[in-house]
Amino acid sequence: NGYFTYDPGFMATGSCESTITYIDGAKGILLHRGYSIEELARDSDYIEVVYMLLHDKTPNTEEYRDFKDTITRHTLVHDQINNFFRGFRRDAHPMAMLCGSVGAMSSFYHDDLNIHDPEQRLRSAYRLVAKMPTLVAMCYKYNIGQPFVYPKNELSYAENFLNMMFSVPAEDYKISPAVAKAVDRIFILHADHEQNASTSTVRLAGSSGANPYACIAAGVASLWGPAHGGANEACLNMLEEIGTVDRIPEFIARAKDKDDPFRLMGFGHRVYKNFDPRATVMRESCHEVLAELNIDDPLLNVAMELERIALSDPYFAEKKLFPNVDFYSGIILKAIGIPTNMFTCIFALARTVGWVSHWHEMLSQPGQKIGRPRQLYTGEAQRPYSKIDK
Ligand code: CMC
Repeated sequence: NGYFTYDPGFMATGSCESTITYIDGAKGILLHRGYSIEELARDSDYIEVVYMLLHDKTPNTEEYRDFKDTITRHTLVHDQINNFFRGFRRDAHPMAMLCGSVGAMSSFYHDDLNIHDPEQRLRSAYRLVAKMPTLVAMCYKYNIGQPFVYPKNELSYAENFLNMMFSVPAEDYKISPAVAKAVDRIFILHADHEQNASTSTVRLAGSSGANPYACIAAGVASLWGPAHGGANEACLNMLEEIGTVDRIPEFIARAKDKDDPFRLMGFGHRVYKNFDPRATVMRESCHEVLAELNIDDPLLNVAMELERIALSDPYFAEKKLFPNVDFYSGIILKAIGIPTNMFTCIFALARTVGWVSHWHEMLSQPGQKIGRPRQLYTGEAQRPYSKIDK
């Protein structure tokens, strides 16, 4: 009838029905397919979480083995992608290369893809989940001028990623089980988060019937910004800039100053208004990894003190601002040897399953419509046009 609700930032707009992920922001609850994130992070592994997000059930042993084989079979990327990478500047930001290379995959898998066939959709999903670690590792290797490392199929998903990141032709990377476990947990904690900006972007792109690789490239682009997935990179940069605990009050004061655009990175969330359950697990994991690797990182002390001071400050309490998933993840990734500019790529790698699960679910729903918000027009009223020479 021409009327619509004006809701900038979609603060109060439900855009779809979904059975994938449930969040209770007031209570700090996050469930994937009904399973709590704490239990999944503790007892499951990423491949099992991928299976349940895509298939709406946990796999039995045989299904798990078959699924792992299927993902493993798809880890290699087409050789032409290697050539595609060579067009990037050596110092290109890894997220720029990831966005481009994921989009470029649509040129390999477009002609024979019927997105209305659930099996073909799932095959695209498996390909994306399988190839993402390969592409992310390629972004890193290209940056540092080392040859790409091919996937090794006998390794687990996290181990294979670490091997492609850190092996060199002369020497295989020695994978520590504790490091592989921590990386797997980071993947689980980032796997899905219902209708966040990048997932909504993927759904919107997919609602027009676009190719899934192009849709996921749109998701990568949306994730990149510091208010979303780019927060992990921004948070570590901030902790490094703070440097020592005595400088924390200065940064807290800046975060509270209305005239200063600075925000505490890794703090606050649109939906969680009590605590982010992912941050609680991430904090524990951070302590475990640093202890296991025998690393005494002064940034951890800065992070803990910053958290303590912020949580006892009325500004943060009133605005319900708590550490989010990205507050501690950077310290773990840094301890493992992953450079800061790769952090958001790792978020993208892990979130790919969330994106494709939502894309798949959306296309399975009857009566699915193209996403097409309206606007509040604030421009000129109709006026006469005069030719340029007048
Ligand atoms: N530091 C200082 N003040 C803040 C912060 C912060 N990190 N976050 C929000 N505020 C203030 C903000 O200035 C505003 O104050 P006022 O009401 O006086 O104008 C109020 O809190 C509400 O902020 P908002 O931007 O309207 O809230 P939002 O729900 O639209 O934004 C957010 C959520 C996550 C974008 C925001 O908290 C933020 O920018 N945080 C820092 C970036 C970050 O850590 N992002 C990662 C999010 S979790 C990972 C993911 O899923 O992407």
